[in-house]
Amino acid sequence: MGKHLHLKLLSALEADGLGIKHSQGWYPFIAFANAPEIIESETKMALKKLIAGNWKMNGSRAALAEVTAISVAASAIGHVESALAVPATLIAPAFAAAPGFSIGAQDCHWNDAGAHTGCLSPGMIKEAGASFVIVGHSERRTDNHETSAEVAKKADAAIQAGLLAIVCVGETDAERDAGKAVAIVTGQVRDSLPGSANGDQLAIAYEPVWAIGTGRTASAADVAEMHGAIRSELVQQMGDVGHKVRILYGGSVKASNAAELLHIPDVDGALVGGASLKADDFIPIIKAAIA
Ligand code: 13P
Repeated sequence: MGKHLHLKLLSALEADGLGIKHSQGWYPFIAFANAPEIIESETKMALKKLIAGNWKMNGSRAALAEVTAISVAASAIGHVESALAVPATLIAPAFAAAPGFSIGAQDCHWNDAGAHTGCLSPGMIKEAGASFVIVGHSERRTDNHETSAEVAKKADAAIQAGLLAIVCVGETDAERDAGKAVAIVTGQVRDSLPGSANGDQLAIAYEPVWAIGTGRTASAADVAEMHGAIRSELVQQMGDVGHKVRILYGGSVKASNAAELLHIPDVDGALVGGASLKADDFIPIIKAAIA
């Protein structure tokens, strides 16, 4: 039961004079309370958290033992999803080393096939064993000059191929200092969204550029403000589906700060770089997602 729904129900019932004070046994009374409002708020129920690791350009076959260790430990942790985006060369061996665990890619092209030297299509990475792909990471937006329009095409193609698309957004230090962080990030969300998606096909990762690999994390208040703004933008663009799209936080997430970050409203998971490389660092983050 989402906390939001619970509180709404309680206040609706109390307003109607029913005064029921516990969370069990009031479903039969919904019809007598403020039902449309309650049904509307049900779309805001807590989403199952997703903790995804991004190995970036790290890892060789020698690191497959960590993939196995992470998948074995993660399978024993209920109520949270976990995943690892490995370098493309490791997708197939990681998939083999961790049966049933969600392995992903860090980029894809938007075309199915063709003259795009060095690129991989969503179908190719899916065939290799990927179930998701990260698109629009700030390192690619910077290093490869990727635009939000291209990111949207990649997300679209990934979803068409049956992959979960994790779309990354985030402001630079200078943009935050100039007071433009929310406008920049919500603009990136708007321009990077695929044409259509349901809640299982799309996630957004908010990663402030200045927090990536620096040991600095955004304050809880800044994360809450940004995730709330991203949620509003998603609902504006996608309607009710926008309530079901998970919004992950990324940027120097580690065991010591994960619990605080993961319990901020509208933080539905994390995208973890450096601390996802070793099971000993990553598993405590997955555990921190459990309420
Ligand atoms: P770090 O967790 O190493 O800061 O990286 C975050 C990131 O970029 C994940 O995509």
